Amino acid sequence: MTVETVATAPIAGQKPGTSGLRKKTHVFMGPHYLENFVQATFDAIGGVAGKTLVLGGDGRYFNDRAAQVILRMAAANGAVRVIVGTGAILSTPAASHLIRLHGTDGGIILSASHNPGGPDEDFGIKFNTPNGGPAPESVTEAIFARTQSIAEYRILSAQDLDLSAPGRRDLGGMAVDVVDPVADYAALMEGLFDFAAIRALFAGGFRMRMDSMCAVTGPYAREILERRLGAAPGTVVNATPLPDFGGLHPDPNPVWAKALMDEMMGPDAPDFGAASDGDGDRNMVVGRGIYVSPSDSLAVLAANAHLAPGYAGGLKGVARSMPTSAAVDRVARALGLPAYETPTGWKFFGNLLDAGRATLCGEESFGTGSDHVREKDGLWAILMWLNILAVRRQSVADILADHWARYGRTYYSRHDFEAIESARAEAMMTALRDSLADLPGQAIGGLTVQAADDFAYADPVDGSVSRHQGVRVLFADGSRIVLRLSGTGTEGATLRLYLERFEPDPARFGLDPQDALAPVIAAAHRIARIAEFTGRSQPDVIT
Ligand code: G1P
Ligand code: ZN
Repeated sequence: MTVETVATAPIAGQKPGTSGLRKKTHVFMGPHYLENFVQATFDAIGGVAGKTLVLGGDGRYFNDRAAQVILRMAAANGAVRVIVGTGAILSTPAASHLIRLHGTDGGIILSASHNPGGPDEDFGIKFNTPNGGPAPESVTEAIFARTQSIAEYRILSAQDLDLSAPGRRDLGGMAVDVVDPVADYAALMEGLFDFAAIRALFAGGFRMRMDSMCAVTGPYAREILERRLGAAPGTVVNATPLPDFGGLHPDPNPVWAKALMDEMMGPDAPDFGAASDGDGDRNMVVGRGIYVSPSDSLAVLAANAHLAPGYAGGLKGVARSMPTSAAVDRVARALGLPAYETPTGWKFFGNLLDAGRATLCGEESFGTGSDHVREKDGLWAILMWLNILAVRRQSVADILADHWARYGRTYYSRHDFEAIESARAEAMMTALRDSLADLPGQAIGGLTVQAADDFAYADPVDGSVSRHQGVRVLFADGSRIVLRLSGTGTEGATLRLYLERFEPDPARFGLDPQDALAPVIAAAHRIARIAEFTGRSQPDVIT
């Protein structure tokens, strides 16, 4: 086995977005594309000589090939050890846990999360730092800078390594520890939640449906829900991870997890439904006949976390991304906890979690998690709900009703306008930003603008400032709209419009969110002139 040094040249566009580098799979499979980015990552973190890394991915098309390339490059760059999941599979939260458990120098996760997989779909790669979390902007910027000056990469000439079963292998002097992807993660969950109480719940006839969407959580959910917690066999559906996710769009929301929604809203629905995404960090939870919006889910988890043994001592604080609704802020106020508002993307929670300022974090985009790892964690959220249901012995609908009665209801929705021509989307955002100073005081369809800004975040731990994180318009009645462009798409631009309205009156808790938000939606279209700039008057996806 020899180390080859391969001459290469910078490839344009290798800029990590909200969550790593995401491109069409065929782009990643192009000459030197993956290799350049991996070498740039290694270089940007000061090389990997003598270091230990974790490696795994969500099993999508090209996961296996990319993993072999990365192993050969890690060996050629002098890494001493790589811990890799069997078959190069690891859910994102499981990878985060392994980095922390073994105190490694970081890890590489292969995933495009909830984006579809396959030769014509998406692939992605992300570097996580030794705290287990996604690399902060300072690191992703250094990686990007390196991709623009790279001239060579190092790779071992060797055959593929057998990753089909656990055990230690050698690759040119580097140890490769192939580990069961599920075992350590399942043990972590068992330490946080009251498995005995959840087992008793299932033993009493409680029925659940878990849709793993042919993605990475299948084996995790089967082991934890069916084997360890005694949920009925067959509780987990779409449980076999497939390279193309069986053609599904593995994004757990009411649109893409429609089969689950239909079952939960239909006759004889189970007591509880849940779904997770491609790489296992997102979650959707649904009760019998009732959908739980992610912002509400975060608020309910914050209010009830003390019912789970791992959180019995209370929370240190909560954090939410700026576009997430303020529902959790109300819980924080009632509990006397600090509440933080960060830009979109899990990487911004890392410092707060590391510094012990926050215990629970969440995003409106079906992401919830805690300080047990440094990624959002789909199964963790589902287990937290199960723990709460097992202790309170109430339905999801009753728990939500109680919550709203106590804290008020925040109506919330996100409208996505996908694959807009980038120049038109940029022009719209520029015009909107230029109009911000004139907005306060304007009355738009019965709503008066109180304040408008372009969100900037000053990290309270390291002082770093992130600007242009989304335009916020606040109305006098407390309603709010937020607009930003997605940083995870691979085709054109996706405009995200976030809509929120607080309702304190219990007589008005039963509205359809789209109806409750109708004036806010209309105001958003007028303020941002969405149709004029983008040619779209209706969103493609509503969550
Ligand atoms: C989206 C979500 C964001 C999440 C990210 C990764 O990013 O909106 O909350 O952290 O995916 O799962 P966006 O496409 O909006 O940049
Ligand atoms: Zn994901």
